[in-house]
Amino acid sequence: MSETRIPAGDPALHFAEHTAAIQAALHAVLASGPFILGPVVESFEQEFADFLGARHCVGVANGTDAITLALMGLGIGAADEVICPAMTAHGTAVGIMRAGAIPVFADVDRRTRCLDPASAADRVTARTAAIVGVHLHGAPAPMEELRRVASRRHLALVEDAAQAHGARSPLGNVGTIGDAATFSFYPTKNLGCLGDGGAVTTARADVAEKIRRLRAYGWNAARVSVEAGLNSRLDPLQAAVLRVLLPSLDRDNARRRHLATRYHAALAETPLILPDLGTGSVFHQFAVLAEDRDSVRAWLRAAGIGTEVHYPVGLHRMPAFPAAELPVTDHLAERLISLPIQPEIAEPHFERIAARLREYAWA
Ligand SMILES: Cc1ncc(COP(=O)(O)O)c(C=O)c1O
Repeated sequence: MSETRIPAGDPALHFAEHTAAIQAALHAVLASGPFILGPVVESFEQEFADFLGARHCVGVANGTDAITLALMGLGIGAADEVICPAMTAHGTAVGIMRAGAIPVFADVDRRTRCLDPASAADRVTARTAAIVGVHLHGAPAPMEELRRVASRRHLALVEDAAQAHGARSPLGNVGTIGDAATFSFYPTKNLGCLGDGGAVTTARADVAEKIRRLRAYGWNAARVSVEAGLNSRLDPLQAAVLRVLLPSLDRDNARRRHLATRYHAALAETPLILPDLGTGSVFHQFAVLAEDRDSVRAWLRAAGIGTEVHYPVGLHRMPAFPAAELPVTDHLAERLISLPIQPEIAEPHFERIAARLREYAWA
């Protein structure tokens, strides 16, 4: 008898636990409306802000628009340079470019895999307006050092927290540190919905107010467009789903941390380089470095164990984005493997993954 397949990650397993509550929440919106913005979106914005300890939260259509709107809200746009990593999702750079700005890629640190503050500092020019730090795989970027670089040069600091809902850095909760922070609620995220969704958080009332305008055509209370905005609003149906899932986020993140600790204990004797524990990470991914990546993945695949690669190629090597020399990003892109880490992984499945990895013929 063949063994059950263990997926790299499957959001349906997560939603299944909440089916009845999600259905009730969706029906409530269907029964009463409104279908654009309204009280359900406002309640989620307040609840997510409270969860993070953020002053303001603005629900938007996705995590890419969140970056665009955060930058626009901070007054960053045409011809401004924005420093960011290339070891990230496409949305980071697309979001910057949709604001009219130019992404300037800096390298990441080998250990944290997040923006290397020294590399970021090297990229600052007279045209630099902001640094976007990405909390990659759920681990906080080195915000203290990035803030130092940003304040020395009077730059805005934005957190791309699309992968790090609930993570904690030494400076405080992710999402409360930068001038603004952006979230994605893409279904696979630690807090994900049944489609696209996103949010911007900020401590600045003026920035929040501007983003609220910009997410709806740039119009004011009189519905007069006072600047050219986007149409990028968090859908009330998705907000309803997020309100169901938010209360179990801390528990789910604790389970991810527990699995990460188990991986460390189980894989200590292998040559795999594991992500650090104790960084405040919420382990959106558990990404290990392997010299013989393809062969390790094939070994797991043959046992029905799925893996992914986040990310197999840096954005600096894609035609849509500016090129750059980023040796550490390239090194990681050739070696990273994301092992299954979603909270729903059953203990016997975890044991199967760990045993299979230990049995690999390590060189
Ligand atoms: C780090 C990062 N930034 C930005 C995004 C873009 O978010 P979305 O897919 O919701 O537009 C994502 C999600 O894919 C992400 O992981």
